[in-house]
Amino acid sequence: MTPARHACVIPVMLALLLTGCDDMSKQHKENPYASRDSAPADIAQGSVEYHDAPHPAPAVTMALLRRGHSEYHAFCVPCHAETGAGDGMVVQRGFPAPRPLLTTEEGQPALPERLYGIITSGQGIMYGFAQRIVPDDRWAIVAYLFALRRSQHATRAAMTPIQQAGAQ
Ligand code: HEC
Repeated sequence: MTPARHACVIPVMLALLLTGCDDMSKQHKENPYASRDSAPADIAQGSVEYHDAPHPAPAVTMALLRRGHSEYHAFCVPCHAETGAGDGMVVQRGFPAPRPLLTTEEGQPALPERLYGIITSGQGIMYGFAQRIVPDDRWAIVAYLFALRRSQHATRAAMTPIQQAGAQ
């Protein structure tokens, strides 16, 4: 190929490459869960509908708290960190930092219903988890958050003798 031909082929190739750079976030998307009728017959086990009905909180048991811990660990720790302080790995890599969990803007503890609502629908730039975490597990996370808060504000008197010995 002569140099003159090169000069012609390169712009054509560039034009072809650049037309492939479509902004995918603006493309039309098919949401298979958009309506009940269009939901696929084979919905993955454990998935939930996006607009689920209000769901009463289950009784708080040790099993629920353990479940809450593992769900919190899987879904929330990347941003909110194990302690809830809001300096998880994703935040350390540049994602905006959330406020420490369990306090509101006024510094008061958040109500369980408010926390459940934020987990379900998200808040601001945080996406909701309605499609990823079933209602009982959302409540389990809420219960775990209260246990976490209590653990961080525990007085010595509230500890068992064994815990007191460990805290020396
Ligand atoms: C991708 C990072 C990310 C993940 C994952 C995440 N969050 Fe958040 N969360 C945020 C950010 C950022 C905010 C602040 C949002 C705003 O107000 O703009 C926030 C706000 C909150 C708030 C409100 C705090 C307040 O008082 O303003 C609660 C409660 C919360 N998140 C709980 C959770 C729980 C529980 C999970 C796991 C199920 C979770 N978040 C997962 C980033 C995240």
